Amino acid sequence: MATSPTVTLNNGVEIPQLGFGVFKVKPTETVSAVTTALRVGYRHIDTAEMYGNEKEVGLAITASGLDRDDVFVTSKLNNSHHPYSDALAAFDRTLSDLGLEYVDLFLIHWPLPAVGDFVETWRALESVYRDDRARAIGVSNFHADHLRRLLDETELVPAVNQIEAHPYLTQEPLRAFNASHGIKNEAWSPLARGRVLDDPTIKDVVDRTGRTAAQVVLRWHIQLGNIVFPKSVRLDRIEENFNIFDFELSGEDMAAISKLDRGERTGPDPDTFNYVPD
Ligand SMILES: NC(=O)c1ccc[n+]([C@@H]2O[C@H](COP(=O)([O-])OP(=O)(O)OC[C@H]3O[C@@H](n4cnc5c(N)ncnc54)[C@H](OP(=O)(O)O)[C@@H]3O)[C@@H](O)[C@H]2O)c1
Repeated sequence: MATSPTVTLNNGVEIPQLGFGVFKVKPTETVSAVTTALRVGYRHIDTAEMYGNEKEVGLAITASGLDRDDVFVTSKLNNSHHPYSDALAAFDRTLSDLGLEYVDLFLIHWPLPAVGDFVETWRALESVYRDDRARAIGVSNFHADHLRRLLDETELVPAVNQIEAHPYLTQEPLRAFNASHGIKNEAWSPLARGRVLDDPTIKDVVDRTGRTAAQVVLRWHIQLGNIVFPKSVRLDRIEENFNIFDFELSGEDMAAISKLDRGERTGPDPDTFNYVPD
């Protein structure tokens, strides 16, 4: 069975570079999708309280019969729980919903700069890390100025920053900022939810390599060093997206895909996204 290479986080923890994302996977489809992904060889699942499927992710992991240590599980703190004690309580619920004693990675889902103080939220994540209930902690959707506040005002450097990134939004400056602080880049919506797959430049690379457009784009991420977790509910695509470790893109193809950057987001801008669910 194929396996994903791993990336070493700033505390020595290893994370599989290719994982499986479950945003917009309905609870009724989640056990089946995660079970399929684990069968195919994925050993890294990216979920969140906001996705409403932590329980089903946990059920699929338990039912897989795999050792807990062999599956890397990420979840994220929902936007309504930024105050310190709320964050601790929400973390407890996440562990309980997943049916796990610890998560491998726990993230602040969005910085919500206009709503609250993510520095206080980060201190709650530091606490669960110190209690060994999260093997690593990090952030998601943080811009450099948000990260600078954490770097200046708190003790632990985030292990990752999970940001939207794909050929239409390469995030070069933020990726470089993260890297310069030892923060690994995780790319969400690595396929831009499918929008990049018909691009003529990607099609050229498809013609040259004989691989699919999704494989080309995921391979581009892997060679850039991004950690990715494409989502699919289809067995054929779950397999296709995992089979990217037996070919390599040339320097020219890598550069051509990176040149597609046009600053185009599929999701909201973290500076103005301040949605807090009831
Ligand atoms: N931190 C954050 O704020 C944040 C935000 C968004 C996402 N994420 C994480 O990132 C993960 C991935 O992002 P995403 O789900 O938004 O987008 P994505 O992985 O870029 O794209 C998923 C879409 O592409 C389709 N697809 C998947 N593989 C394909 C293939 N081989 N060929 C053609 N189409 C394919 C899927 O459809 P089918 O399911 O029908 O195959 C789905 O519509 C999420 O699941 C979540 O874990 C995090």
